[in-house]
Amino acid sequence: MRLDILTVFPDMFDSPLAEGVVGRAITRKLVDVNCLDIRRFASNTHSSVDDYPFGGGGGMILQPGPIFDAVDSLKKDSGFDKSTPIILLSPQGKKFDQCKAEELARHKRVVLICGRYDGVDERVINHLVTEEISIGDYVLSGGELAAMVIIDSLVRLQDDVLGSAESIKDDSHTSGLLQFPQYTRPAVFRGWSVPKVLLSGNHKEIKKYRNKQSIKRTLERRPDLLEGIDTDQLG
Ligand code: ADE
Repeated sequence: MRLDILTVFPDMFDSPLAEGVVGRAITRKLVDVNCLDIRRFASNTHSSVDDYPFGGGGGMILQPGPIFDAVDSLKKDSGFDKSTPIILLSPQGKKFDQCKAEELARHKRVVLICGRYDGVDERVINHLVTEEISIGDYVLSGGELAAMVIIDSLVRLQDDVLGSAESIKDDSHTSGLLQFPQYTRPAVFRGWSVPKVLLSGNHKEIKKYRNKQSIKRTLERRPDLLEGIDTDQLG
């Protein structure tokens, strides 16, 4: 998979793309992440890519020209076609979730445009992007952090990125339920013991316990995830 990020702050991506699961996946060439500075496509000597809004009001708006040109420059590369998602990160977008992550992870290429300042010229939304995505009902100073969230969630779903298929299967949300509680050594810490069943070696019982805990946790914390689902059917 190749991810192209359009941003006015490419340096923000340096360490998220160098560390951890994502950093390793890039080093192992399992994914290719390309950061494109929108300012490179500015048409003026100051490299400015924003301007005042028509009609007045505060703030600065990202201009359409540099963004269209940046996306056009990507179209020459292999794997870019009509089905390539061109996503604008914005608080007005549809809320991101695991289902969307799984859908996007299946694409060969995904373009992420980071909104900035007080908005992006509407013609970018109407004539260039295929969808707007928000990572939650709060406002960030720009789409960069949102893009990092999406990149992380897509990269960890790529083949061979994580150690074992188990790690994805048991993730919160992959199964539609929250993850069960996990423990490691020591078996007793400051007087708090690990549930006995986890030390029993009885895999059938462990599976049953974990499933029950997942359902209990989901009912307590995120009952919205279980709407319309018969919890008796879950085990
Ligand atoms: N840009 C600003 N706020 C955002 C959000 N919540 N999600 C995605 N992009 C954003």
